[in-house]
Amino acid sequence: MEQYAIKGGNPLVGEVEIGGAKNAALGILAATVMTDDVCVIENLPDVRDTNVMLQAITSIGGSVESIDRHTYRISGKNIVDQTIDEDYIKKIRASYYFLGALLGKYKNARVSLPGGCNIGSRPIDQHIKGFKALGADVTIGGGVIVVEAERLHGAHIYMDVVSVGATINVMMAAAMAEGQTTIENAAKEPHVVDVANFLNTMGANIKGAGTDVIRIKGVPRLHGSEYTIIPDQIEAGTFMFAAAITRGDITVKNVIPKHLEAISAKLQEIGCEIDESDDAVRVVATKQLSHTHVKTLPYPGFPTDMQPQIAVTLGLSKGTSIVTESIFENRFKYVDELARMGASIKVEGNTAIIDGVGKYTGASIVAPDLRAGAALVIAALAADGFTTVEDIKYIQRGYEDFHLKLQSLGGMIDIVDSDKDIQKFKLKIG
Ligand code: EPZ
Repeated sequence: MEQYAIKGGNPLVGEVEIGGAKNAALGILAATVMTDDVCVIENLPDVRDTNVMLQAITSIGGSVESIDRHTYRISGKNIVDQTIDEDYIKKIRASYYFLGALLGKYKNARVSLPGGCNIGSRPIDQHIKGFKALGADVTIGGGVIVVEAERLHGAHIYMDVVSVGATINVMMAAAMAEGQTTIENAAKEPHVVDVANFLNTMGANIKGAGTDVIRIKGVPRLHGSEYTIIPDQIEAGTFMFAAAITRGDITVKNVIPKHLEAISAKLQEIGCEIDESDDAVRVVATKQLSHTHVKTLPYPGFPTDMQPQIAVTLGLSKGTSIVTESIFENRFKYVDELARMGASIKVEGNTAIIDGVGKYTGASIVAPDLRAGAALVIAALAADGFTTVEDIKYIQRGYEDFHLKLQSLGGMIDIVDSDKDIQKFKLKIG
């Protein structure tokens, strides 16, 4: 099984190019099948989750052609089947976006219940509520969700919780419903806006994405489009915290600094210097970092997808920090692994109380999920000694060439597949 082998201790220094936003890409890929015309998608990250979405499009008869590693030509013209229930699709949460997309276009869809990272109970009641309000019947049985409608009509939908997935899913179906839909208490994340922008380039009429009220006038038909996905806020944020935790100096390039404001603000608060330009943010961490309190919130609050990365950094900061997770109840699973590296963290309910320690030491650890996995990798890069991280398949779901980008910043990290590889890595790094 592939693992990361890491030798910590080097400050990470240099520039890193950020790829397209995974969570925008997942919605956009599902939306491409809503037209019979061709869509050309640029800046698509080459990660496991997007590749599973492409595979799903092919499995129902859509055509997927790679122009280069990050550019794809996709057509939903020859879709013969609205059923997506193979085993592989259950592994990714975003499979549920095919419900909204296929319901909008064909007025029916059958999709296996979504899996994804095990970070909490992750209900989909708000998606179902939205589809029903648009006139669909929703049934669940044998692990499959079936949505179908004679016709879809506009509706006024109030989301009981702010949900990225439900907002995107209902927005897609409503884009091809008859009449006007209003989604209140909508999620405002940059990836919600990106999916709305993409649908608008396909001829949809969606206004207000990025605010908590989205208004959609349904159209009977969508057309092809060429679209470039926004940069990944969370990949960028992960490298920004990699600079902080290793006392390095990293410039994340090809980003939208506005999307990173909550992250930049916290880094500044704990003692990093932040330098923003039009499409880059530089993080310099030269001095001892200090403690802070942080609570995850929907955008524009501090993202839950950055919670493990800030927590591992605070674990090496001076004083006591408090991290409150308000979105997913099961997102502190990495704490036991970090404790093996010497961290002092106590979890009480949805709060982690972190007493900063002077150093982490290398250990054999396991990535429990995508973001926690990435956070443990940056912790290992800041640790004394040698670490192995197992289950890197989680990290590869959302980070393209993670180890290569870290290597380019001076990080001593490689993928190893056997004891022999580990010995070779140890010899190489000395
Ligand atoms: C998206 O998940 C992201 N995934 C997650 O990223 C991210 O952590 C999350 O949004 C929050 O920003 C994708 O975009 C594929 P939600 P999603 O619906 O859509 C509750 C990563 O690491 N809820 O916004 O599943 C839910 O339980 C991943 O890249 C309901 O109660 O999240 C949670 O407490 C992990 N009923 C809150 O809302 C529903 O019907 C927010 O969830 C839907 C959600």
